Amino acid sequence: MFRTNTCGELRLTDAGKKTTLAGWVQRVRKMGGMTFVDLRDRYGITQVVFNNEIDADLCEQANKLGREYVIQVTGTVSERSNKNKNIPTGEIEIVADHLRVLNSSEVPPFTIEDESDGGDDIRMKYRYLDLRRTPVRKNLELRHRMTMEVRRYLDSKGFLEIETPMLVGSTPEGARDFVVPSRMNPGQFYALPQSPQTLKQLLMVSGMDRYFQIVKCFRDEDLRADRQPEFTQIDCEMSFVEQDDIINLFEGMAKHLFKTIRGIELTEPFIRMPWSEAMKYYGSDKPDLRFDMRFVELMDILKGYGFSVFDNAAYIGGICAKGAASYTRKQIDQLTDFVKRPQIGAKGLVYARVEPDGTVKSSVDKFYSQEVLQQMKQAFNAEPGDLILILSGDDAMKTRKQLNELRLEMGTRLGLRDKNKFACLWVVDFPMFEWSDEEQRLMAMHHPFTHPKDEDIAMLDTDPAAVRADAYDMVINGVEVGGGSIRIHDSQLQAKMFEILGFTPEKAQEQFGFLMNAFKFGAPPHGGLAYGLDRWVSLFAGLDSIRDCIAFPKNNSGRDVMLDAPAALDQKQLDELQLALDLKDK
Ligand code: AMO
Repeated sequence: MFRTNTCGELRLTDAGKKTTLAGWVQRVRKMGGMTFVDLRDRYGITQVVFNNEIDADLCEQANKLGREYVIQVTGTVSERSNKNKNIPTGEIEIVADHLRVLNSSEVPPFTIEDESDGGDDIRMKYRYLDLRRTPVRKNLELRHRMTMEVRRYLDSKGFLEIETPMLVGSTPEGARDFVVPSRMNPGQFYALPQSPQTLKQLLMVSGMDRYFQIVKCFRDEDLRADRQPEFTQIDCEMSFVEQDDIINLFEGMAKHLFKTIRGIELTEPFIRMPWSEAMKYYGSDKPDLRFDMRFVELMDILKGYGFSVFDNAAYIGGICAKGAASYTRKQIDQLTDFVKRPQIGAKGLVYARVEPDGTVKSSVDKFYSQEVLQQMKQAFNAEPGDLILILSGDDAMKTRKQLNELRLEMGTRLGLRDKNKFACLWVVDFPMFEWSDEEQRLMAMHHPFTHPKDEDIAMLDTDPAAVRADAYDMVINGVEVGGGSIRIHDSQLQAKMFEILGFTPEKAQEQFGFLMNAFKFGAPPHGGLAYGLDRWVSLFAGLDSIRDCIAFPKNNSGRDVMLDAPAALDQKQLDELQLALDLKDK
């Protein structure tokens, strides 16, 4: 038997027992005539002690162990004189009487302990070593427990887990596809699915009724902390449902996860906030509601007093940071620099402090009387000690987005974004379309299969930009953890949608004929949602990046530095695929 116990298992109550453990040497320490080895496996760390006075040969062997050697140790569980309160096995140690080296190891390129001295790149290159570290391993354990709970919940609601293909056709709209050349069909390419969207709709046409899949999705888009080129969705679809049915069922799943994984009982229904309200008060379709700091519009109060920046603005709005009037000039300058960063793009920042006597002192005092400033103070319900921060601009939507960045920054600075506090909501009634400057046409905001709100369908012909969709996102702490919609199940309405999106009937038939044809054969009303598993796990684990809950993630350039992928193909493979490269940037 390789082992009788794991390295995380033995306690004081086991004292006196004979045990065999196997694992990796985390550390070897020599103290007087004793050698201490911290032995690690997936379950924890146990101290093993070799006593020179009892068995000098054995102790000598132990002294030769290096970091990350794989060993098997037999010995007796004993009470430790020097107890370590920080680990569950800290009250005992194994007094070794037998040692077998199962494998040696080169010196690892970084320390494999909770706090590693390895930078990101090196840890990614040796990810299998990084995964030996407890914090990283714990993230994968959490991920496993979450997927188990997801399956348990959806199974209990009658969902079937059905796999859909990974080699599918390329579809326009959405992000860029990753494509795969076909050797048997020279010059033709599969695409990896950005999501199983159309396939799950076809499963509804097939009568499967309630489908789910924990599935890899692929998108060739710019990467951020919450985006990977391949990521995992908890993808679901249901037939014979309305928006409320879907929202209730998946809110139930969210609550189930909070309860079983985090021990948090959420009893209240989640807020449902129309998209227009989210944009107006938070400048974002994924507002972080852990803190309030809603926007207040100031056009009526501050326009027309000779301050040309405001007088010429299409939008003036601000936030009130409670208790931040003590901010120094330097701190305010930092905030000004923050909003002026190219990624945010504001031109400047106006501030106003509410003084202890209730008067308002602002950076634009020469334009405004105290009376006007008091009106502004009232609009914010501001009190002595508060700091009002104001942005303006000639594009209302852009300015709101800038103010959103400032709101989040202030929330962070004021410590209002506690990772152990959760604020969940649904954002509903998204616009059906958004204008794309790049494409110079309307694009589907969610995807082209989303059903317009019944009461807005008439506007498809007259004012498509004003049409709202039966689409909803779940947002937690400012992160979009999932989204979905009621789908179009009528082939004519679907054809109309493609027309508005600028597809000719031929092009629509070529790209989406398979779906529109299927809809001619009795498609049931249906809808669904997909949660982003990586985002859920990183939220529950309190991570800054979803990378940390993925076993083998890609870096920000989309590379797997461990596998050194992507890489060039050799000529033989290119020949088989009948592909010739003509790279523009050689
Ligand atoms: P959507 O594109 O909103 O919807 O994706 C659903 C959820 O998947 C997660 N997500 C990502 N996670 C990590 N990296 C990425 N690059 C990434 N992109 C998306 C987000 C998001 O909310 N087919 C529709 C769903 C539906 O309508 O049923 C879809 O894919 O958490």
